[in-house]
Formats: sequence, structure tokens, C-alpha cells
Amino acid sequence: MRFDGKTVVVTGGALGIGRAVCELLAERGAAVAIVDRDERAAREVGAHIESNGGKAVVHALDVSNFDEVKTAVDTTHAAFGSVDSLVVSAGIQRYGTALTTDDAEWDEVLNVNLRGAWNAAKAVIPFIQRSGGGTIVNVSSVQALASQQNVLAYTVSKHALIGLTRSIAMDFAKDGIRANALCPGTVDTPMLRWAASLDPDPQSVYDACSAMHPLGRIAQPREIAEVVAFLAHESSSFVTGSVWTADGGLLTQIGGVPKTE
Ligand SMILES: NC(=O)c1ccc[n+]([C@@H]2O[C@H](COP(=O)([O-])OP(=O)(O)OC[C@H]3O[C@@H](n4cnc5c(N)ncnc54)[C@H](O)[C@@H]3O)[C@@H](O)[C@H]2O)c1
Repeated sequence: MRFDGKTVVVTGGALGIGRAVCELLAERGAAVAIVDRDERAAREVGAHIESNGGKAVVHALDVSNFDEVKTAVDTTHAAFGSVDSLVVSAGIQRYGTALTTDDAEWDEVLNVNLRGAWNAAKAVIPFIQRSGGGTIVNVSSVQALASQQNVLAYTVSKHALIGLTRSIAMDFAKDGIRANALCPGTVDTPMLRWAASLDPDPQSVYDACSAMHPLGRIAQPREIAEVVAFLAHESSSFVTGSVWTADGGLLTQIGGVPKTE
């Protein structure tokens, strides 16, 4: 699965899943635009890719600001001559119910996780149309298909991201644009480490997360990046509007059923 001659814009490319996607696609020949608000971490990824002979540009910005995203995508196109794929991995998690989530948290989560994805799509689609086709992969979550307690805004944003993905898939299929959503289970990233740090016993969070996946462990970012790569590549040429899980079997099991052996 090579990406030679392709340019891929990756939001949230500085850390976690997005970083793994940038590194994997660059290894496979893509020029990568690392779009992230964490400039220091993004520059580290860019330097790592270039030191391995790959091509990368860094754009430090907030994905909820369309003008900044558009400028970054325009600059990427000017630098590499095309924009062929978008991977949306920028996301944030906040905690709260319908009663305890305040307006600011709701806006923050929806602006990053949902508006950020829309902004990136709006900036990228005209270039993909011009080049005759390409791909969009939105990193959603198992929380797009089920829910946990106390994560209202995040769950809403991830469900809605599937709607965004399907709408784009329908509206731009005629242009050869394929859009798919990927729903990971728990992945070992800075986001998980932050969530675990809120617990007095962070290791217990890792242990509980590992135990709830039938495979008995959480994912490494590279395992998710491999699925992103497939959905971004022409190997998945008949896949669009779909929702893929990479969840170690998490959503397959019926919880609470006593073991019979
Ligand atoms: N880690 C998991 O267990 C898990 C599971 C399912 C889905 N996801 C989703 O996968 C995606 C990546 O998650 P991760 O675990 O790698 O998270 P992470 O926090 O490790 O990385 C997210 C990246 O997004 C960037 N970012 C956040 N807000 C931004 C903004 N406003 N503008 C630009 N960049 C911004 C961060 O700086 C960071 O580099 C997220 O959308 C997340 O919801 C993660």
C-alpha cells in the first residue's frame, strides 16, 4: 500500500493516532501535512519524518478556525502540488452528563471534534475534486455506536461525525471522493494517559480498559493507523460511507454475561 505522489492532510497529526498515521503514510511515500495546535509536538513529527527521508510540512493551528485550516490546506497544495487525502484525528474528550456539561464544554468539544472535521473537509474537497478523486477518513470512536456514562458532548460529537462522513460520501461520490469513518476502541495515546491521570489510580484505568476488550488489551496507535491507511488508499476503492470498527471486539460482546467455562 504505497502513497507515492500523494499528499495527505492529517489533523491532530502531532500526537497519538494522528502521529502514527503521519509516520506510517510518510514511510509509504506520502507527503504529509501535519495540522495540529501543539506546534512543538507537530514539529517533532515533521523532523522525524524528514530525518527518515520523507516529506512533511507543519501547520500549527486550531481546527475549529476555518480560515486557518483553509490557509494551511492552500499552503500544502502550493508546496506539494496536490491534496489527495484527508485524515481527521484532532479530537478532545471532556466529561459531563446532560446536566453537568456546561455551554462552554459543549461548544469546545463540538467545535473541535465536529466543526474541525467539517472545516478540514471544506478546505480539502475542492482540491480533491480538481485532482479527480481521493479519500477522507474521519477518526470517530466506539462512542459513535454506543455510549459510556458521563461523556455527553464527546459521544454526541462522535455520533455526529458519522453523519458528516455519510453526507460527504453521498454528496461527493460523483467526484470520486470516498469518505469513511473509523471507530477505534481504547488506544494507548496521550488522550488516554490524560484520562487515566484523572483517576487516583491511573494503572487501574489501563487495567480496566484492557479487560473490557475481548482481545484482552488496548490498541497501539500504529494498529489504528494501519486501518486508516487502508481506508485512505485505493485498495479500499469500493468502500465509501462506511463505518469501520477497530475495537478489539469491544462492541461485539454482550456485557455482563456469566462465563460458562
Ligand atoms: N485514544 C483513544 O482511546 C481513542 C479511542 C477512540 C477514538 N479516539 C479518537 O481518535 C482521535 C485521536 O485521539 P488520540 O487518542 O490520538 O488523542 P491525542 O490527544 O493523543 O491526540 C489528539 C491530537 O489532536 C490535537 N488537537 C486537539 N484539539 C485540537 C485543535 N482544536 N486543533 C488542532 N489540533 C488539535 C492535539 O494537539 C493532539 O495532537 C480523536 O478524535 C479521539 O477522539 C481516541
